[in-house]
Amino acid sequence: MTGRVSIRGLGHRFGDLPVLDDVDVEVQPGEVAALIGPTGCGKSTILRVLGGLLRPTAGTAEIDGVSVVGTPGRAGYMPQSDTLMPWYRALPNAALGAEVRGVPAAEARRRARALFARFGLAGFEDSWPSQLSGGMRQRVALLRTVLTEAPVMLLDEPFGALDAITRGDLQGWLAELIAETGHTVVLVTHDIDEALRLGDDVLVMSPRPGRIVDRVRVELPRPRPAAALVEPAATRLKARVLASLDPGDATGARPGGQT
Ligand SMILES: Nc1ncnc2c1ncn2[C@@H]1O[C@H](COP(=O)(O)OP(=O)(O)O)[C@@H](O)[C@H]1O
Ligand SMILES: [Mg+2]
Repeated sequence: MTGRVSIRGLGHRFGDLPVLDDVDVEVQPGEVAALIGPTGCGKSTILRVLGGLLRPTAGTAEIDGVSVVGTPGRAGYMPQSDTLMPWYRALPNAALGAEVRGVPAAEARRRARALFARFGLAGFEDSWPSQLSGGMRQRVALLRTVLTEAPVMLLDEPFGALDAITRGDLQGWLAELIAETGHTVVLVTHDIDEALRLGDDVLVMSPRPGRIVDRVRVELPRPRPAAALVEPAATRLKARVLASLDPGDATGARPGGQT
């Protein structure tokens, strides 16, 4: 098994701005770690370090025991913003994932084409990104990430820009896909339901400078349809994540109560 992610003592400053403080993250091969926290707490910064795109000011980041610092391409990385190339049609956009790994263009497109149906994109190979819905564009971007054939996928708010219904559908679909491919995934999200549907662990971060303030193990059975999140076991986890995200709010909600 490969795809173990290990971050130890990670710290980062942008100039005078401390962004991350002593972050430890361990993800076992084939597991999904969901990072959740307020905007600006450093979630994307962690993924950029794991993606080899940013040298942290402190700490280590390794995949399978080898440092990824300064070495892009060891993991499949799906950045936060919509990053399809507007001047490429859907198929060549997806194929870029294999091309960056040195696969010749024709072979890369063959591999991409073979997966279009699995990604619910059959018939849209020649569409321009502007002709696709938001959900379809994100599936093209995911397909591109899968085609890097790296055992670790870094997904930065993959469904953040989508409406709730589309997002819910895609969460179920992504959970199936991950189960099928066996990827190790570090998923950044600000959606607790998404974290609980997909995560084996939910790592809750503090406001900037981001630290991990809670690790919640999600033992809910899979598959986890949206309806599973209203079961008592899930709502207990949700309450814990909410309390960890905003400890002040949790105590404030019980005036007079001492903990
Ligand atoms: N290249 C950069 N230069 C300076 N500040 C940055 C840079 N990238 C991010 N930041 C700042 O670092 C903080 C954390 O950013 P980010 O990791 O994107 O947060 P998140 O993804 O949790 O919303 C933010 O305050 C952001 O403005
Ligand atoms: Mg971000």
